[in-house]
Amino acid sequence: MTPPREGPVVTLDGPAGSGKSTTAREVALRLGFRHLDSGALYRAVTYALLEAGVPEAEWEALAEADFRALGVSVTAEGEALRVRLGERVLGPELRTPEVTALASPLARIPQARAALLDLQRQAGERGCLVADGRDMGTVVFPDAEVKVFLVADLGERARRRLLEQGSAPPSRGELDAEAARIAERDERDAGRAVSPLRRPDDAVDLDTTRLGFEEQVQAVVELVRTRWRV
Ligand code: CDP
Repeated sequence: MTPPREGPVVTLDGPAGSGKSTTAREVALRLGFRHLDSGALYRAVTYALLEAGVPEAEWEALAEADFRALGVSVTAEGEALRVRLGERVLGPELRTPEVTALASPLARIPQARAALLDLQRQAGERGCLVADGRDMGTVVFPDAEVKVFLVADLGERARRRLLEQGSAPPSRGELDAEAARIAERDERDAGRAVSPLRRPDDAVDLDTTRLGFEEQVQAVVELVRTRWRV
């Protein structure tokens, strides 16, 4: 039997660059909850396949068991959840442009998604979790107590993504190129057959285009506090 939840599961879904992961991490910290970055799992599987030298053209033909056998896992270290490949904790290697570009086509493969489902649900079994991704409120945690759907203008998302990657203010050309990359990824994530990016019916919308980071974090923390006394 599943143990009772000790606190709520909070889901943050939204498109690329809407600030989900950074917001979710900070909200979790302030509430004393754990943070599950589900995108990091799709990135970890992508990284593992690249490291194992499996050509991209063969990914779709892999079985769920093959994806499981790669050895991606989530372990708890105190309040932090770590994404591992075997014993190794993965971090910056998950954020290279190559992994970013290939994680989205990987995430369309139903067997890959199925292989990651239990890992994610186990992380939420006891509650007190903030989970961010594309299908947290719809598929992975449909009974989450608090669901947020983050949106922001495409141009603003491109600007944030570039600032996150380097310190210099990006040029118009760089902004346009990044916006095109993000739009392509959004389209693929929203248009795929399994677990598409979709607003959960019972989610609260949060448009972060004109919000600063602190305001964005506060808005989610307030929402959780009004729904659940933490
Ligand atoms: O932060 P960013 O949106 O750039 O990427 P991410 O959240 O780390 O996710 C990387 C990729 O994994 C996305 O392009 C999605 O295709 C996929 N993903 C997904 O399909 N389902 C999730 N719950 C999380 C990520």
